Amino acid sequence: MSKPIIASSTLIIPETHIIPTHVAIIMDGNGRWASQRFLPRVAGHTKGLEVVKKMVEESARLGIKYLTLFAFSSENWRRPKEEVNFLMSLFLKALEKEVVKLHSNNIKLKLIGDISAFTAEIQEKISKAELLTVNNTGLVLTIAANYGGRWDILNAIRNFLQNNPSVDPNQIDESSLTPYFSMSFAPEPDLFIRTGGEQRVSNFLLWQLAYTEMYFTEKFWPDFGVESFNDSLKWYRQRERRFGQTSHQLVEKTEINHA
Ligand code: FPP
Repeated sequence: MSKPIIASSTLIIPETHIIPTHVAIIMDGNGRWASQRFLPRVAGHTKGLEVVKKMVEESARLGIKYLTLFAFSSENWRRPKEEVNFLMSLFLKALEKEVVKLHSNNIKLKLIGDISAFTAEIQEKISKAELLTVNNTGLVLTIAANYGGRWDILNAIRNFLQNNPSVDPNQIDESSLTPYFSMSFAPEPDLFIRTGGEQRVSNFLLWQLAYTEMYFTEKFWPDFGVESFNDSLKWYRQRERRFGQTSHQLVEKTEINHA
């Protein structure tokens, strides 16, 4: 196993910082944004892509290390065929057009999800983009495409068992599975943002969100911008991240650290 083992928030209390290390976003509300303007739903996705670019820039500027975006869920195939096709072509165009820019900004691109369902052309572009940016040391931009949290957990169990066929079930613990998750290269998200007014996780990073701070905003994704992002970061800074401890213990720890 060459993958690094990332500490699990339920096993070890992670270090936290004023600026979150990892931000994960569900970019919801593109369709409603467009409908409100009597535009086709897909116009909302085009506008949404513009916001993605701004968020990537701002995250890199702020020194956020990991930005993970839910672009297409395993359930999004249920949408009208024309919308799915549009999203695929938008994705392909973005891969073609933006990757060089990402690379010149030292950004590493990663894709998580079952990409075997995409066309050969998209799969090839994804591999090339990941390869081009593999040694970059700046922001790690992860796009979740045909991703589902349950798929990820099942996949991790399958891969673990394939590598450990004669394992005693009693010996399996969280750290046995951690290296097999598709986000094993990153710490768990510190901040989760969902735009568009819904307050649910929608099968996003189910395992990894165990102790993530959850920020929900009514704003539709195309209306989300640097200012809204800063509002969410301000909210995050005011959270007391206890990871199961009491407030009193946290105060004591801070005092010890400052002694
Ligand atoms: C959810 O809004 C959004 C999506 C399913 C697609 C997100 C895609 C983008 C932001 C553009 C492409 C991004 C990349 C990274 C290439 P919705 O359609 O569910 O909105 P609704 O809830 O108002 O219908």
